[in-house]
Amino acid sequence: MAWVRGDQLQNGKYTIERELKTGRFGVNYIAKNRQDDLLLLKTLDVNSLTSLSESDKERLETMFMKEAVKLTLCQHEHIVKFYEPFKEAGYSCLVMEYIPGETLDQLGKISPEQALIYIQQIGAALTIVHEHNLIHGDIQPENIILRAGKSEAVLIDFDLVLDFDHELTTRRSKESDESFASLELCTRNTKPTVASDIYSLAATFYYAITGQVPETALKRKIDNKRLIPPQELISGISNELNLAILKGMELEAKNRPESIELWLKLLNSNSQNANAVNQNANAEDKNTNAVNQNANAEDHKNNGTKNKTTVSWDKRMQILTLVIAGIAAFGGLLQGIASWNSQTTAPPNPTSTKK
Ligand SMILES: Nc1ncnc2c1ncn2[C@@H]1O[C@H](COP(=O)(O)OP(=O)(O)O)[C@@H](O)[C@H]1O
Ligand SMILES: [Mg+2]
Repeated sequence: MAWVRGDQLQNGKYTIERELKTGRFGVNYIAKNRQDDLLLLKTLDVNSLTSLSESDKERLETMFMKEAVKLTLCQHEHIVKFYEPFKEAGYSCLVMEYIPGETLDQLGKISPEQALIYIQQIGAALTIVHEHNLIHGDIQPENIILRAGKSEAVLIDFDLVLDFDHELTTRRSKESDESFASLELCTRNTKPTVASDIYSLAATFYYAITGQVPETALKRKIDNKRLIPPQELISGISNELNLAILKGMELEAKNRPESIELWLKLLNSNSQNANAVNQNANAEDKNTNAVNQNANAEDHKNNGTKNKTTVSWDKRMQILTLVIAGIAAFGGLLQGIASWNSQTTAPPNPTSTKK
């Protein structure tokens, strides 16, 4: 039986909006609460797991509920908010917040700087998960949502039945899932640990910056396939970043950093180097700016002097023009007087000359 739009659960506390996707152990639904907030409802449908014995089904359900309760205690801005587990109509359910946005997988290849921000956010979230003695168990680009309109990565899809030592837990649902799973997650009778999450997060980082899924741990182990270092696939990443990814993806768990904090330190040393380079570059920029400002100030001063010179030169020109105009006017005046003088003096009398 599957729920359809309008179905009410928990006496009307939740209303089904639509089916999202069938997961490994059950269907995911988008639902609403009474305040119309969008929620995600994850279900465990043991009856669809026909290969399981009744006692295994029971064990699986108990584990789902126990892990779900623990998850409600894991609160962090980069972990999906878990609200409550409940059981209804034979399904074990877990209610969580619905996060609008794209998954890291849908985004594809991104810049190493942006990827580093998201990976550090998920790393910080994982420290909280590990403090609660939980293992995520299925870290991969598909299980990291980037909150719409924000630069925030959020971890979803915790493997609630990770310790269930049935073949279902080692059989990954898609081939690409295997690219992010450590050796111990793919082989039976090996317990996933903190180091398994480190491997998957490092592999997720690998995918985010190269746009390519890394070689699977199984093929590396069995077929002796080589994990191509990210530096061979893309240019512009530092040696430190390249090494931090490879260290996190060591085939044997014992060779990986012991905690997510230690792995983050490897990444941080790289980002600190990058910051130092940026700070130097900024300092250089500041120096250049200071030099430019001084140059501008000099220019300003020179302009001031230039202006003064121009002003005094202009003044001189004006005075000269006035002087010339004055001389011209004076000349005109003299001429005027001369001609007036010649008119007032009695002209020679022709008759007298004839005299
Ligand atoms: N809380 C959530 N908010 C928004 N989308 C989600 C949420 N949880 C899951 N999804 C979407 O549903 C897809 C499948 O859900 P997931 O929990 O990863 O189940 P599966 O076990 O099938 O991988 C995710 O890749 C994501 O696109
Ligand atoms: Mg998933």
